[in-house]
Amino acid sequence: MKINMFSQQILSKLKKAQNVAVLTGAGISAESGVPTFRGEGGLWKKFRPEELANFDAFIKNPDLVWEWYHYRRQIISKIQPNPGHYALVEMERRHKNFVVITQNVDNLHQRAGSKLVYELHGNIERNYCIDCTKDFSNQEINETKNILRCNCGGLVRPGVVWFGESLPMEQWNASVQAAETAEIFFSIGTSAIVYPAASLPIIAKRAGAYVVEINLERTELSYDADEVILGKSGEIIPKLVQTYL
Ligand code: OAD
Repeated sequence: MKINMFSQQILSKLKKAQNVAVLTGAGISAESGVPTFRGEGGLWKKFRPEELANFDAFIKNPDLVWEWYHYRRQIISKIQPNPGHYALVEMERRHKNFVVITQNVDNLHQRAGSKLVYELHGNIERNYCIDCTKDFSNQEINETKNILRCNCGGLVRPGVVWFGESLPMEQWNASVQAAETAEIFFSIGTSAIVYPAASLPIIAKRAGAYVVEINLERTELSYDADEVILGKSGEIIPKLVQTYL
């Protein structure tokens, strides 16, 4: 007899589903070595978001904010996607409409090979001028010892979304649409407390999706999810893929 850790419901739904959406958070990259924000060892235990991840803080102290992003970019430049990221690439091949919606800025889904990724919180490998929005490459940033200024005189900032800022509208609208049309919606490695991203599984559920959470522990979403699978995403997603593909 074959015993597996997944319910018949999720397996039969996955075998049939054409529209699948996945929301990911810092937890999916934890096994690659990217620190999460909350919980044990979380970045927000050591650093204060209000001093590092908002626009006023940047204007007040751009050196400090850039130091924080250089630190994180350095971590990310040395690591690789993990089996959780790669298993999502396998899933993308299997379903007609498959989208990864990520709160992560680490670019690991794209590096693993996911084709359709909506980045709700931006991407740490992008930079732009706060006045004229001109893009600047990472190389230009790395080569500049001081804070980089655009030709127009504006400060260059990381291309990420900070607290109090709006999400990129096109990516957000597309994410809502994916949630509304998903037959199965996964919430993976996110504490599900930062809005509006955290509203996506609820939008999906109201529109009729089967909502599955994969996390090390229960979260704010667990009560509303149809199924909660506890464990490491880098182990669970590959097992799930092996079981239904
Ligand atoms: P959090 O740090 O809030 O949550 C990470 C989640 O991943 C927790 O629920 C962990 O239990 C879970 N986790 C850790 N390791 C895991 C593993 N190997 N497998 C599965 N789950 C694991 O990160 P996010 O929810 O992504 O925003 O945080 C959301 C936003 O808050 C971030 O995008 C960032 C932050 O402030 C901005 O900076 C705007």
